[in-house]
Amino acid sequence: MSTDLIAPHGGELINCLATPEEKKDFLAKADSLPRVQLDERATSDLVMIAIGGFSPISGFMEKDDYLNVVENMRLANGLPWSVPVTLSVTEEEASPLTIGSLIRLDDPNGKFVGILQLTEKYDYDKEHEAKNVYRTSEDKHPGVKVIYEQGEINLAGPVWLLEREAHPQFPNYQIDPAASRALFQEKGWHTVVGFQTRNPIHRAHEYIIKCALEIVDGLFLHPLVGATKSDDIPADVRMRCYEIMMDNYFPQERVVLAINPSAMRYAGPREAIFHALIRKNYGCTHFIVGRDHAGVGDYYGTYDAQEIFGEFKPEELGITPLKFEHAFYCTRTEQMATAKTSPATKEERIHLSGTKVRAMLREGKTPPPQFSRPKVAEELAKAMKVE
Ligand code: ADX
Repeated sequence: MSTDLIAPHGGELINCLATPEEKKDFLAKADSLPRVQLDERATSDLVMIAIGGFSPISGFMEKDDYLNVVENMRLANGLPWSVPVTLSVTEEEASPLTIGSLIRLDDPNGKFVGILQLTEKYDYDKEHEAKNVYRTSEDKHPGVKVIYEQGEINLAGPVWLLEREAHPQFPNYQIDPAASRALFQEKGWHTVVGFQTRNPIHRAHEYIIKCALEIVDGLFLHPLVGATKSDDIPADVRMRCYEIMMDNYFPQERVVLAINPSAMRYAGPREAIFHALIRKNYGCTHFIVGRDHAGVGDYYGTYDAQEIFGEFKPEELGITPLKFEHAFYCTRTEQMATAKTSPATKEERIHLSGTKVRAMLREGKTPPPQFSRPKVAEELAKAMKVE
C-alpha cells in the first residue's frame, strides 16, 4: 500500500470475510449451531465490521470497550470511538448460549449470513447509554427508541461474514473500503473529502461539497443506504437524485459515488465522529460536517457536531473535519452562501433543509430552484407522488 493513503483507524483495515475453507466449515455446521436473528441494523453492522468500514472493530463489542465508548468516547485501548457497536438479545435468547461457542447469525429474513464466536454476554444500562450517546433518554428520539426496544443482553465477540453479496439495489455503487482505497490511489488523489448524507441532495449540500472540492483532489459522495427512520426519503429515490447530480452538475472525474451500507443512529455529534472514522477507513483524508450533522428534531445544537471534534487531538482522529456554517440561498447575491460569505439580511436568506424538502414533497409541492436543482426536484416530486 502506498504511503500516500491515510491509514485506517487503528492502523489496519479489518477483514472479517470468511475464507472459502471457513465458509465451507460454517455451512457444514450451520444446522447444529445456536441461532440469533439480527435486525436490519445489526445485519448492516456485521457487514461494516467485515469489510473494514468499522476498523479497528472486528466484532460486536465486549463490555470494557462498550462502557469506555459510552462514557469516554474511546475504546478500552484509548482509541477514539464514539458509538457502541453491539448485538443485543433478550435474556431468554442469551441464556442457552455458552461462552466460546460459535453462533449462527441470520438476517431479518432468516438467511444465514454470519458467525459470532461468543466471548462475553453482559447486561447494560439502556438509559445510561441513551443519555451518554444520544444526550437524551426520551424514547421519541429514533436512536434511543431502538435501544429501549432491543434486548437486555449484549452478545460480544469476533465475527465472520459468510459472503460479501452484491447490494440488491445498488450493486454498481458498492465500493468497499479496500476498493475505494485502491480507486483513490489509481486516480492519484492525495486528499479526498467524504460526504455523508441521508437526504435527497439539495443546493446547500451541493454548495458545501463544491467549496470542499475547491481545496481537495476528489470527493467521495457516500450516501447512507442502511436503515433510516420511516419518514426519511427512501434510498432508491435519493440515489436517483445523486445520479442526476453526477450526470449534470458535478465534475464526474473528481467525484466517486458509492453507498454506505450502515444504519443511521441519529446520534448527532457522536455520530459525526463515527461517520468521519468510517470515511477514514474508506480512505478519505477530510470529512464534511455541516449544520446539525446526523441530527434529528431539536436534540442537538446547530454546531454541536462540529464542536465535538475539539474533544480529540487532530492526530488521534487522523481525518480532518471540514466544517461549514448553515448554508442558504441569498436572494441579494442570487447564489448559495453562508453568513461568512453573504451580506444578506435575514429576509434575504432562504434556508434549506432535508426536513423542509420532505415537508414540501408531502404537501405535493415541487421544491423551488433555490432549494433543489430542477431535475432533482422533478425526480423527487415524481417519486413521492407514486408512493
Ligand atoms: S445527515 O443526517 O446525513 O447529516 P443530511 O443528508 O441532511 O443529513 O446532511 C448531510 C451533510 O450536509 C451533513 O454534514 C449536514 O451537516 C450538512 N448540511 C445539510 N444541510 C445543510 C445546510 N443547509 N447548511 C450547511 N450544511 C448542511
